[in-house]
Amino acid sequence: MAEKIDIGISDKDRAALAQALSKALADTYALYLKTHGYHWNVRGPNFSSLHALFMDQYTEQWAALDEIAERIRALGEFAPQSGGAFGNLTAIKDGDPENGWEAMVGELKTDHETVIATLGDVIALGEKVGDDVTVDLATGRRTAHQKHAWMLRSTLGAK
Ligand SMILES: [Fe+2]
Repeated sequence: MAEKIDIGISDKDRAALAQALSKALADTYALYLKTHGYHWNVRGPNFSSLHALFMDQYTEQWAALDEIAERIRALGEFAPQSGGAFGNLTAIKDGDPENGWEAMVGELKTDHETVIATLGDVIALGEKVGDDVTVDLATGRRTAHQKHAWMLRSTLGAK
């Protein structure tokens, strides 16, 4: 059954927004997974604080996945749901458990910057097509990733 979707956004714009949000979802998933892996595998004299910091950050991102995916559904499109689909959509590379702690923290910091850029594309599109709900969601996600990036920079002794 093909019910018409009339939520104040054109079909074309709904599809484009869902595509942009799918990239943000895939980036968030990949960075969630990497952060959780580094929570397990980080080593060094500051193990305890990094283990806890990574847990805070992966927990926050885990909750966000559902919000982003359900926004895609509210737009009337399907959310990507497999590891393969996320792998094709994300710009974030897998983590390496052999990395030292500084490499782990530096990589995660750069990855948050990648998600921030992806979310910037979502915001720009949302503003262009007048989807204030998606803009609001992506702005909230940017706030969270900017805070995560700050904490990782500070861990490295940077500004
Ligand atoms: Fe744990």
